[in-house]
Amino acid sequence: MWKIQLFKLNFDEREKNAASDVVEGGWLAMGERILDFESSFSNFLGNKVQCVATSSGTASLHMSLLALDIGSEDEVIIPALTFVADANVVRMVGARPVLADCESLANWNVSANSIEKCITPQTKAVIVVHYAGYPCDMPAIVALCKKHGIYLIEDAAHAPGASIEGKRCGTWGDIGCFSFFSNKNLSVGEGGMVSTQNEDLYQRLRYLRSHGMTSLTLDRHKGRAVSYDIAEIGLNYRMDEIRAALGLVQLDKLPSGNALRENLTARYRANLKGSSVTIPFDAMSHDSISAYHILPVLLPKEVDRLKIIESLKNNGIQSSIHYPPFWGFTAYKDCFDPSDTPIAADICDQELTLPLFPTLTIDEVDSVTTALQEALT
Ligand SMILES: Cc1ncc(COP(=O)(O)O)c(C=O)c1O
Repeated sequence: MWKIQLFKLNFDEREKNAASDVVEGGWLAMGERILDFESSFSNFLGNKVQCVATSSGTASLHMSLLALDIGSEDEVIIPALTFVADANVVRMVGARPVLADCESLANWNVSANSIEKCITPQTKAVIVVHYAGYPCDMPAIVALCKKHGIYLIEDAAHAPGASIEGKRCGTWGDIGCFSFFSNKNLSVGEGGMVSTQNEDLYQRLRYLRSHGMTSLTLDRHKGRAVSYDIAEIGLNYRMDEIRAALGLVQLDKLPSGNALRENLTARYRANLKGSSVTIPFDAMSHDSISAYHILPVLLPKEVDRLKIIESLKNNGIQSSIHYPPFWGFTAYKDCFDPSDTPIAADICDQELTLPLFPTLTIDEVDSVTTALQEALT
C-alpha cells in the first residue's frame, strides 16, 4: 500500500539463518544465546554495566521501578513528551507520574532545569527519555539526581548506540532500559534489556525477570543445579532464544544502521532548511552522538496536521505522531494539566514523524520532503 513506509526492518539472510539455527538446535528459552546477547550488549554499552535481557521495553521499565522499591507513597518524574509506557509503569506500581516539560522547541528532551521544577519531598525517581535518539544532558541530570538523592532511570528505547561525552546512553543512570520492539534501531519483534553498574540491582533484576528463581532450566539441564530456591517474588519477563539470536545479528548491524540513519537525517535537514517546518535537536549544546531513531518535524501552528498526513498518504508516504499527549487518553483523563507543560503541549499538537530507517534511500528522502513542501503550500 505504501510507496515509502515509515519504517522497514533491516533484516536479511543473517536473521533468517540465526532464527532457523535456534529451531534446529531445539533449545528455545533461556539458553546460551541469551547469555551471549546479554554479554555482547554489556560490552557494547561499556562502562562495566551488566545486562539482563527481557521480554519488552515496558517489562524493563516495570522491573526497574520494582527493583528500586518504588510504590504508592512515591512520585516519579517522567517526560511530558513520551510513549505512554513510562506513565503506565509508574501507575502500575501505585506511584504518581509527574510530567517534566521539554527544554525548548529546539531541544525536546527534559533537562535538569525542567526536572528540578517537578521535584517534591515525594520524588523517588526520574525517568528520562532520549527522545528520537538524541541524548539528554546527562552530566547535569546525574548531578541534579545525586544532589536530591533521587534514582535515575534512563529509558533508552530510542537510543541504543547514542552517547554523551563518549559514554553510552543507558550507562549514566542507576538503570538503563532498552526496547527491541519491531520499529526500533535494534529489532527482534518484542524484546528489551536492562543495564546497571550496581551488582545488587543486577541481582534483583535477574530475580524479577524470572520468578525470583536462583537457578535456570539451563543450569539444571547442564547439571549445574538440581533444584532452585525462590529468593524473592518475581515475574516472567524473559526473552526467548530466537529473539536473542536475532538480537545478536541486529547488534552487529547497529553501528552501520545508525550511521545510515545519520546520513539520511542530514539530507532531511538540508532539504527542509529555510522551510516552514523545523527539525529539533539541530544544535546540541553538549558533546553527544544521536542514534537517529526517528525523524520528527514541527509543523507551523496554523497548519492542520491531519491534512498533511492525508496529503502524504495520497502520495504513498506513511507518517506518524510521536506522541499523542497523555491528557487526551481516557485512562489519564483529569490526571494532567497541559498548561503545566506548555512546550510539550505545543509539540504534541504539531509534531509529525517522517520515514526513517537504514535502507531508506536519499531519493526517497527527497520524495518525502518534496511531498511535504507541496502539502504545506
Ligand atoms: C520511549 C519508549 N519507551 C518505552 C517503550 C516501550 O517498549 P516496548 O514496546 O518494547 O514495551 C517504547 C516503545 O515503543 C518507547 O518508544
